[in-house]
Amino acid sequence: MATIFLILFLVILVMLIIMTYRIHAMARHHYDNEENREKAGLIQSWVYAAIIFTIIAIIASIYFMVKGTPYEGHLMEWLNIVVRVMHITFGIAWIGASFYFVFLENALNRTDNIRDELAGNLWAVHGGGFYYLEKYKIAPKIIPKNLHWFKYEAYFTWVSGLALLFILYYFNASAMLIDTHVLKLNTIQAISISIGSFIVAWLIYDGLCRSPLVKKPLFFTLTGVLILVGFAYFYSHVFSGRAAFIHFGAMIGSMMVANVFFVIIPSQKAMVNAAKKGQLPDAEKGKKALFRSLHNNYFTLPVLFVMVSNHFPSTFSNKYQWAVLSAISLGSAGIKHWLNLREQGKLSVWIMPVSVLLLLAVAYVTAPQPSTIKCKKISFAEVNNIIQQRCTRCHSSRPTDEVYTAAPNGVKYDTPAEIVNKKDLIMQRVVITKTMPQNNKTNMMPEERDIIRCWIEQGALTNQ
Ligand code: HEC
Repeated sequence: MATIFLILFLVILVMLIIMTYRIHAMARHHYDNEENREKAGLIQSWVYAAIIFTIIAIIASIYFMVKGTPYEGHLMEWLNIVVRVMHITFGIAWIGASFYFVFLENALNRTDNIRDELAGNLWAVHGGGFYYLEKYKIAPKIIPKNLHWFKYEAYFTWVSGLALLFILYYFNASAMLIDTHVLKLNTIQAISISIGSFIVAWLIYDGLCRSPLVKKPLFFTLTGVLILVGFAYFYSHVFSGRAAFIHFGAMIGSMMVANVFFVIIPSQKAMVNAAKKGQLPDAEKGKKALFRSLHNNYFTLPVLFVMVSNHFPSTFSNKYQWAVLSAISLGSAGIKHWLNLREQGKLSVWIMPVSVLLLLAVAYVTAPQPSTIKCKKISFAEVNNIIQQRCTRCHSSRPTDEVYTAAPNGVKYDTPAEIVNKKDLIMQRVVITKTMPQNNKTNMMPEERDIIRCWIEQGALTNQ
């Protein structure tokens, strides 16, 4: 059945691709005619949308074909690779543009030889050419026909991020999202909490931005920080450590995109429309957009940290991971604040050192504790027993786990050499961060972790 659908969708895809070429040819034919070009552009957008939906249908068909076979993991891995690279690329384009415009705003020449209608200008050299930019105080007299907007970067970052959540966390909720040692949830509950939390977070944040509290910046910031810490605490007590971190980032990222979609872009549209009618744009709307833009700017570094945090088990596996997450977010937002002030030519003495100290303090408190147990002589047989019992369900050339049908990250413990070669990683994941076995699915005991620690400290020998 799935095979028939696959063939059907492939045929549709080929037809759609041929159509795009035909439309291109037609558009080129009528390039002098504005109306035809616009029509062709509209049809083209529909065809592109159809192509995207067909590709999703093809992937779904392949998924049902390979479900339950070893190829399922492989398919998910490649989806992960493709969507992740897209997510990173869109994210770089979005954050890059946003950093660039903040830089422009801060570095504008506002005094030397500025025409009356301008707020400032800027000369730059890049990629072998000179660039000259002007910023208008309000709007040019005539709105140019080709006006570049920056919004799809944000939308595509969010869409690809949501797709990644599905691929990594929702499809694999029992392994990646849920940790029954944290909270016993089923898949539907976990996914509902996940999606619901993003919506609730936006409603709270948006409400806060519309409340009278915005007139008191200090209270506004404190309330915002408290709410964010609250979310970090909530996620850490609902999901697995990794998923808790990613959710914190996805939640803030969603608020950033919603800021673009619901506030910043509508305000820009209103501005353009007013200018087209020769009216003065509503300054209040512009102010609100700038306010949200500023929040997005402070959110970037914490979100970027969260997006790479999966590589750092010592952060998300900490007992007080919500505090670690909050402190790293605050510290990195502090660094962004310092950078912003510096670009404006203001030097702040204390923000940078305090932020760096905060981050160093996190590194210090998350450091491994010295061992207090007294080791007796450990034999390899004892260690091997533990590993075969607690690890090879996943880490083997023939895993028996229902989720991991191929050894995760290629790590196998079938032979003594395979165990010894990975001893440093075992120390890191089993003893120090305790992030293996994954979500302690095989119920490893603390004493067993001690035995592995002693064995590695005694030189990880296999001949006794
Ligand atoms: C339920 C399945 C499962 C069990 C049981 C399990 N692991 Fe893992 N392991 C994984 C997955 C999935 C990954 C990859 C994701 C990650 O790094 O968190 C992984 C990654 C690792 C890594 C990191 C490899 C790298 O390249 O960074 C090490 C080391 C590891 N496991 C050791 C162990 C040890 C030792 C045990 C037994 C005490 C164990 N695992 C039990 C699923 C499991």
